[in-house]
Amino acid sequence: MIQHNIGQLKPFLVVDEQISLHLARPELAEAVFGAIDESRAFLRTWLPWVDGTKSVEDTKTFMKESMSYNSDGTRLTTFIRVGDQLAGSLGVVNFNRDHQKCEIGYWLSQDFQGKGILTKSLVAFTRFLFKNKGIHRIEIQVAVGNDRSRRVPERLGFQLEGVLRQSVFMYGSYHDVAVYSLLKSD
Ligand SMILES: CC(C)(COP(=O)(O)OP(=O)(O)OC[C@H]1O[C@@H](n2cnc3c(N)ncnc32)[C@H](O)[C@@H]1OP(=O)(O)O)[C@@H](O)C(=O)NCCC(=O)NCCS
Repeated sequence: MIQHNIGQLKPFLVVDEQISLHLARPELAEAVFGAIDESRAFLRTWLPWVDGTKSVEDTKTFMKESMSYNSDGTRLTTFIRVGDQLAGSLGVVNFNRDHQKCEIGYWLSQDFQGKGILTKSLVAFTRFLFKNKGIHRIEIQVAVGNDRSRRVPERLGFQLEGVLRQSVFMYGSYHDVAVYSLLKSD
């Protein structure tokens, strides 16, 4: 495994003794780029932005944008730390304040797959959003063919609400997208 050590940073949210979430910040850029670069072939299948992430500079730019969105409250980008390693990302990709709802996105680098890291992180993150951010509905949108990602909301009791036909254009073709939701009352 390539090491993407991120040292000791104050967590935004503690998931368990091993896993914590950290807000976007410049010090994370190198480790985040390393994690993306190492898993590029795997991640790019469902994340079209991966091809545009060519250098640490690109990730630094993304970090700056994320910090700005995090501070104006339109997004909440966090990175998943496991031990002292950067494992992936989990965040709100948009908040809709008028309707107290938001949409979540995530990825894990290849070495951290299959261990329940995302599921555990998402449990803590959804609790935080319902309790501390006044959210009453959380949405996850996943390309219909992305079985591994679909298992994440399904495992946590999100309801499948339907399929948006040809909703995403990726690598030259349209993809259907499954929409899942979890309500505070669920
Ligand atoms: C989607 C993605 C984050 C899922 O990763 P993952 O490792 O399968 O998710 P989790 O961390 O929740 O782990 C669940 C897996 O670990 C296993 N696991 C082991 N211990 C576990 C535990 N304590 N709790 C839950 N699951 C556990 C589960 O059985 C499951 O494996 P399975 O799906 O083969 O049954 C990952 O595949 C990814 O980054 N994909 C590319 C990017 C992407 O598609 N992003 C989403 C766009 S919508």
